[in-house]
Amino acid sequence: MAPSDPAGRAEELRQQIEYHNVRYHQLDDPEISDAEYDALVRELRALEERHPELVTPDSPTQKVGAPPDTSTFAPVRHRQPMMSLDNAFSFDELLAWGKRMERYISGAVDFVCELKIDGVAMSVVYENGLYTRAATRGDGVVGEDVTANVATIEAVPERLELMGDRLPSVLEVRGEVYMPISAFEELNEKQGEAGLRLFANPRNAAAGSLRQKDPKITASRDLSFFGYQVGDIVGGPQVRRHSDTLDLLRDAGLPVNPEIRTVASLEEVDAFCRHWLDHRHDLDYEIDGVVVKVDDLAQRAELGATSKAPRWAIAYKFPPEEATTVLKDIMVSIGRTGKATPFAMLEPVRVSGSTVQLATLHNEDQVRIKDVRPGDTVTVRKAGDVIPEVVGPVLSKRPAGTKPWVFPDTCPVCGSPLVRLEGESDTFCTNVDCPGQRQQRIAHFASRGAMDIEGLGEQTVRVLAEKALVDDVGDIYSLTYDDLIALEGFADVSVRNLLAAIDASKDRPLANLLVGLGIRHVGGRGAEVLASAFGSLDAIMEASEEDLAAAEGVGPVIARSVHEFFALDRNRAVVNKLRAAGVNFRGPDAPDLPQTLAGKAVVVTGTLDGFSRDGAVDAIKARGGTSPGSVSKKTAYVVAGREPGAAKLTKATELEVPVLDEAGFRRLLETGTP
Ligand code: IVH
Repeated sequence: MAPSDPAGRAEELRQQIEYHNVRYHQLDDPEISDAEYDALVRELRALEERHPELVTPDSPTQKVGAPPDTSTFAPVRHRQPMMSLDNAFSFDELLAWGKRMERYISGAVDFVCELKIDGVAMSVVYENGLYTRAATRGDGVVGEDVTANVATIEAVPERLELMGDRLPSVLEVRGEVYMPISAFEELNEKQGEAGLRLFANPRNAAAGSLRQKDPKITASRDLSFFGYQVGDIVGGPQVRRHSDTLDLLRDAGLPVNPEIRTVASLEEVDAFCRHWLDHRHDLDYEIDGVVVKVDDLAQRAELGATSKAPRWAIAYKFPPEEATTVLKDIMVSIGRTGKATPFAMLEPVRVSGSTVQLATLHNEDQVRIKDVRPGDTVTVRKAGDVIPEVVGPVLSKRPAGTKPWVFPDTCPVCGSPLVRLEGESDTFCTNVDCPGQRQQRIAHFASRGAMDIEGLGEQTVRVLAEKALVDDVGDIYSLTYDDLIALEGFADVSVRNLLAAIDASKDRPLANLLVGLGIRHVGGRGAEVLASAFGSLDAIMEASEEDLAAAEGVGPVIARSVHEFFALDRNRAVVNKLRAAGVNFRGPDAPDLPQTLAGKAVVVTGTLDGFSRDGAVDAIKARGGTSPGSVSKKTAYVVAGREPGAAKLTKATELEVPVLDEAGFRRLLETGTP
């Protein structure tokens, strides 16, 4: 919508953009997300296009970045201006740019696709192969001298590699100083422990680390660098293409991003961008888009530049993963293990293509360190598939009179005390019968990755629990049509669908059932390992802690947790309900055999004629039994072949465990008795 007072709006936008430029470029403490900043610039540009008389020479649309902070760092005039890039915010805008390039340039166009590293632009000058100066971009003409700080970055060589007579007398490389994500997380952990301010993201951390008076501090921050452009070169080899420039940088020993590709069509440009949109989180550094550049330097010269940016390159920006919004309240949710997790209730906001109204705050310490308070404007982040989280408050927008939030000392669901063990970051509801926990356990059982019962989400579980229709996961299979049709919001079709989904879940693989039971430390991978090592739920239930730990891929932590879980009568009762309902208890490789040895431990010793050692163990497991390596009072039978182990036989006699020969073993397998 066009504003009624375009001149006034343009002035307002200019002021806002200048303000945010300073916060971003000089203070390393932006208040709004990049996307919100881009939206302001776009609005101003559109306004100036419609009203060219409103364009002022100092309009942010005509300039790059912000003036350098020369009170701390000496000013450096760049040998060539450091320009910015025009942005494309969608694939359509990117392709429209590409087509313009192809139209304008007669002949084929090759494009170089580069990741847009989210760091701090840097100019690094080498004279006769020696590192001499590093400067930030500043306003594009004058930057800040950060030579001493950049000298501490290991990735920036002190001396270029020997290039013989190809060594330029001056080489100004431009690139990005960035902080790897792992280093950022480590730094924030240390900052938190020391009670210092946390950095909102790796870019701010990199900028803050560069802007230090004492280079020792910069040296202690794990910064890195990728070169992507030559700003100026005197002498050295002639290059005709940008891709040759990148080779030159690499040959000189400068770090160049390994993902860069030169392509010959816009389809490939498109594919490169889509690939990295999906895979951006596979990297240990943040990228906020893809920079596409025309490869041929003669073609670049033909295209030229505007006052601010070259025409031969464009930055395709990924959709934003951060936004700011108002935090309405902080609540605590109770998970299936009783863990109490604080979360933020937000004014709904669009992030990463979806609307976010809830965001996690992880734990008590995180809320304290971030000091977010109800009423604050906060930055929210949703990266990839990750649960949305609150990054931190925008302090300049904090309303008067807010107070730090205090973690509650009782469970919001059942009122029992919340307990935080010393040395741990999580707080727990201590009541195992807490309805909150119980409902979460049932919802977890029905979730994807577990028994995948469509239609049995948290809401439905809550209703069923409130009506006392389900108490544990075993009760799901006793639900009837009449139970469900009586519930508010349920109609004939939805009831039938839910019952069908419940029925279908009985055939899920054993690993899904194990995940669904919610045994501590048993995730998808652990469940797979247990299912294939033991072959049936009964075998897992009856296995000793040692047997469990002896299985490949099962460590002592999982072994203890599984053993403790099945030692509890209440869990065994749930398993019995599931068994009675006909839920699959059998592992992936188990043939369809009668479970004659369910829960029985059979020790094999010596050589059998009709079975290999593993074959005998498999036969026992396939019938629901286990086959531990030693005899104990839990052993049901010992099978003795030729040359049996004397110790096992003695032990069997001592404990009065029946010893079978091979014929007895075969009868046992078939019938369950020798
Ligand atoms: S080329 C004249 N290549 O993005 C072109 N820039 O929004 C100079 N950036 O100021 C820039 N990765 O700080 C280029 N592979 C890349 C980049 C990249 C990140 C940054 C750089 C630049 C900003 C423009």
